[in-house]
Amino acid sequence: MARCVPQHLIKDRIDSARERLQKCEIDGLIVLSPTNKGYLSGFTTGTNIAPGGVLLITAGEESPHYITSTVDFQECRERLQPRGFEVLRYDYRKGQNALSITVDAARRLGLRKVGVPQSSITAGQLRSYEQEFDQAEILPIEDFIAVLREVKDEWEIKQIRAANRVSSNAFERIIRQVKPGMTEWQLAAELEYRLRLGGEGSPRLAFSSVVVSGPRTCMPHGSVTRRKLQRGDLVTVDFGATCNGYCADITRTFVVGSPTDRQRKIYSAVLQAQLTAIKQVGPGNKRAKAAQRGMDVLGEKGLAEYAVHGAGGHGIGLQVHEGPTTGECGLWEPGNVVTIEPGVYIPGWGGVRIEDDVLVTETGYEVLTPIKKDLLQVKS
Ligand code: GLY
Ligand code: MN
Repeated sequence: MARCVPQHLIKDRIDSARERLQKCEIDGLIVLSPTNKGYLSGFTTGTNIAPGGVLLITAGEESPHYITSTVDFQECRERLQPRGFEVLRYDYRKGQNALSITVDAARRLGLRKVGVPQSSITAGQLRSYEQEFDQAEILPIEDFIAVLREVKDEWEIKQIRAANRVSSNAFERIIRQVKPGMTEWQLAAELEYRLRLGGEGSPRLAFSSVVVSGPRTCMPHGSVTRRKLQRGDLVTVDFGATCNGYCADITRTFVVGSPTDRQRKIYSAVLQAQLTAIKQVGPGNKRAKAAQRGMDVLGEKGLAEYAVHGAGGHGIGLQVHEGPTTGECGLWEPGNVVTIEPGVYIPGWGGVRIEDDVLVTETGYEVLTPIKKDLLQVKS
């Protein structure tokens, strides 16, 4: 699989950012969030997506500037210079920092009004920027790059699809090793090893896996413990690899041995809620409807009060949680990728969650997660 984002897509992303700057009559943009820096530069394979520092984009045609420390300078230069970025370094040993080098660059570029997304800057940092930028006004703005990221291009979709494939292969391999006596901890470690081994480009996992068993499955994000799996347990596993920085986010609940009637019934209700919610995903459809329809199913079965996070989900991409979510008003657009993850959690008994990643296509939806959803029974 190609490791690098095609150059024309980087150009499209930067052009979209520039268009927005021009519309707002701002002549420069300071990008601090590692995710947005990764998206605009194509450097998404670092341990923190993109290296530290500042990406400075102008509304005009000047080269984007990536200002990074001496620590990350070599790799940034290798990766970004051939793509038309000016890569500058700051050296703490010489009393330099990202801000001082950015101020110099902005001065050279003749910038007068520079926007900085307020969600990525602390109040203290903002004060420093306002003080140090003597020639330019600093304007806290909305994070419109995060909004651009909500619609994935074809390369990004390929990465999320690959991350799903890797994650599914890892799960299907590990599930064969599960047996009573294995701990949640072991299961998480074995799974994460396979997620890392199969991943591509980026070493990070989408997030630290959740593995909860028995009555602990009533905790949607329960901590992984050394509890041993027992015959009759439900086990919930929430996991995801990354490929070139892009995340998968998948959950499956299975049973050790044979399910009881109640386990079977609740599993089947959650599955029905998930299938119903997924069918609501499509271009032009209301985002909130997916979660509502899923909840209708759980409500009919008397389970609504136990569905503590509802029956919808969230966008995924470079971040495991990003826009758009099913909790927002607004309509789906082709290129949105979202999880649909209803769950039912009954204190003292346990819980069930089923989560897939779903792409909004031009005509409907496509489920990107290839793992089967019948209630899986592992050997006991
Ligand atoms: N994978 C964790 C979550 O979406 O909540
Ligand atoms: Mn999720």
